[in-house]
Amino acid sequence: MKIDIGSSNKRKWLVIIGIIVATLIFNTNSVSAQDGELLFQQCRACHSIGQGKLLGPDLLDVGKRRDAVWMKNFIKSSQTMVKIGDAQAVELFEEYNKLVMIDYNLPDAEINAIIKYIDSFSTEGTDNGEASSSAADSLAAVYLATIDTEGNRVRGKEIFMGERNLKNGGTACISCHHVNTSESIQGGLLAIDLTKSFSRNGGLPGIKGILEFPPYPAMKDAYQHAAITEEESIQLQVFLMHADEDNVISESSLFDLVKQGIIGAMILLVIISLVWFKRKKRSVNYDIIQRQRR
Ligand code: HEC
Ligand code: HEC
Repeated sequence: MKIDIGSSNKRKWLVIIGIIVATLIFNTNSVSAQDGELLFQQCRACHSIGQGKLLGPDLLDVGKRRDAVWMKNFIKSSQTMVKIGDAQAVELFEEYNKLVMIDYNLPDAEINAIIKYIDSFSTEGTDNGEASSSAADSLAAVYLATIDTEGNRVRGKEIFMGERNLKNGGTACISCHHVNTSESIQGGLLAIDLTKSFSRNGGLPGIKGILEFPPYPAMKDAYQHAAITEEESIQLQVFLMHADEDNVISESSLFDLVKQGIIGAMILLVIISLVWFKRKKRSVNYDIIQRQRR
């Protein structure tokens, strides 16, 4: 009898472990490239890949005309990009007779799967997309040169740190966020550290969009009735850009950090062993006994 109970328990455990392993496997594979095809079904009403225009543009080689961050933002909320005046989004919107593409608030993994699926149809060879993207790049460079001034950076820093009030009375960023710069004081820990937010969010347009239409509830509440002005937004963008550039964590500096750690640990070991070495090795009584013997 006892043996029976034991083996049925064992079986129960095997089943439980099996279920755990299976869910782990299924979870890690939950969004794969094949799912891109499935996910793309919801786009087919308006887009083909290589069969020409429908309601929206043919998406063949769209990866050659648009960069990945732009596409991700566009799929999430094309109208947000139109509203913030992203040149490419506005142009497309006009070209397609102001037809609104609905927002797809999908997780990044699913958007990546869709983009990968679209990319898998990509044609080989060079194309004229390169020329237009380099023209867009040089326009962006001109824009950057006009706003990237020391004055804007300092103003942005002052606004961020709460040293200068926001025009419409909004809360200073520092009450929720920290940024690591040589001039900064410890900021709030309510929200994510913004030191690398510039590169994390696709640069100037990304930060601009977040400041004008904060997609995060806590931040939205803070600025709903105290909108950040365009000028302030630009100053904050420039400040965050420099904070990002000044905090490059390169692989070599990471390696240095590890090296310093190892050297530090070795020094500590030497000190500990020296202290240990100087310790009395015999009991106190031993010396007294030796003295009395003499
Ligand atoms: C209701 C129709 C409709 C649906 C559904 C739709 N789109 Fe669009 N899409 C458009 C239109 C129209 C445009 C052109 C821009 C505009 O008018 O806003 C566009 C533009 C785009 C662009 C930019 C193309 C370019 O040439 O740069 C991408 C990328 C895109 N859509 C991806 C998607 C994806 C991915 C889906 C599915 C998740 C999707 N769209 C679903 C209508 C749609
Ligand atoms: C009331 C608190 C609050 C204030 C004030 C606030 N934020 Fe935020 N912010 C948030 C929250 C919450 C998020 C979402 C990320 C998170 O959960 O930490 C966020 C996200 C962001 C992000 C995206 C972060 C990333 O890299 O993913 C940026 C950029 C940002 N905030 C900039 C600012 C700037 C600039 C200001 C000042 C004008 C500001 N925020 C003021 C709460 C706040």
